[in-house]
Amino acid sequence: MSKLSRAAALAALALVASAAQAQFAKPEDAIKYRKSVMFVMGQHAGRLGAMVQGKMPWDAATAASNAETIAMLSRLPWPAFAPGTDQGDTRAKPDIWSDNAKFKANAERLQEQTAKLAAAAKSGDEAAVKAAFGEVGKTCKGCHDQFRKE
Ligand code: HEC
Repeated sequence: MSKLSRAAALAALALVASAAQAQFAKPEDAIKYRKSVMFVMGQHAGRLGAMVQGKMPWDAATAASNAETIAMLSRLPWPAFAPGTDQGDTRAKPDIWSDNAKFKANAERLQEQTAKLAAAAKSGDEAAVKAAFGEVGKTCKGCHDQFRKE
């Protein structure tokens, strides 16, 4: 590689890296972060889901605690889907970046719906929690169907 093209390649690399590293030391950290948040969110959705489906006895305080945790976590993963974090130990599909407006709209919808879920759970209205949980579940699935590999 000539000196000039090596310099150009390094500059391009630095650009990609700086986008991915705005908040994370390296792309692998962003991937680990978003997967970890999704994993924990999935655990709490599973616990609340078990109560919604009657597999666990309904307990208003436990429902509220899980709903609040899901709402809080729903705000976290999105900056970790930075450009340049599509390679490695990830199931993220390229659509996240090529159809980014839709991905972001899904992420926003999740935050709105989980806020509603948390409010319903706080009020202790079991029927409202069940309805809100159904909407949240649809949003998880909708995004995974388009943006997550099998
Ligand atoms: C806006 C899109 C989007 C929404 C909404 C969304 N997810 Fe995800 N989720 C993803 C993507 C993309 C991945 C793959 C991330 C990766 O591998 O880098 C993922 C991965 C996961 C994983 C696997 C984590 C791991 O250990 O690798 C779980 C579990 C999960 N999501 C649960 C949920 C739950 C539960 C909800 C709803 C409460 C939800 N997700 C909502 C996009 C979304």
